[in-house]
Amino acid sequence: MTFAVPARRALALGALLAAAWALPALAQAPTPAPAPAAAPTAAPVVTTTTNAAYLAANCANCHGTKGKAVGGMPNLAGQNRDYIIAQMRAFRDGQRPATIMHQLAKGYTDDQIALIADHFSKIKN
Ligand code: HEC
Repeated sequence: MTFAVPARRALALGALLAAAWALPALAQAPTPAPAPAAAPTAAPVVTTTTNAAYLAANCANCHGTKGKAVGGMPNLAGQNRDYIIAQMRAFRDGQRPATIMHQLAKGYTDDQIALIADHFSKIKN
């Protein structure tokens, strides 16, 4: 249902505003209010994703949705797995000159490159 998210957001915003409004009142209380229990801290976001589709989505802007390229960009969908891996490594290691891929390729580990290559090679073009 599309209305659920905005409604929940509005609720959360309302709670936030109420909390912000209540804070100055607490500060002025004659007896110091007991320290609030430490808020649970969010776990730091660590990029350990091994989800191939998620990783491959980073390529869609330039290489097309699901790697099906338009406008003269190299196609990745259905491309040979080993070829993709070799090109990504060549970009990353500076062996293949590039305008942008040499920078992008540095953001991926060998394992991630293999996952991405595996993913695209299995998409029918
Ligand atoms: C900002 C645009 C952009 C993004 C995002 C991008 N690419 Fe590229 N890609 C290019 C361009 C441009 C080339 C041609 C080489 C160059 O000039 O960098 C290319 C070339 C390639 C090639 C060589 C193709 C061939 O036929 O030899 C591969 C493989 C490739 N990209 C894989 C990827 C993968 C995998 C991702 C996602 C992790 C990705 N690219 C994300 C722009 C992009």
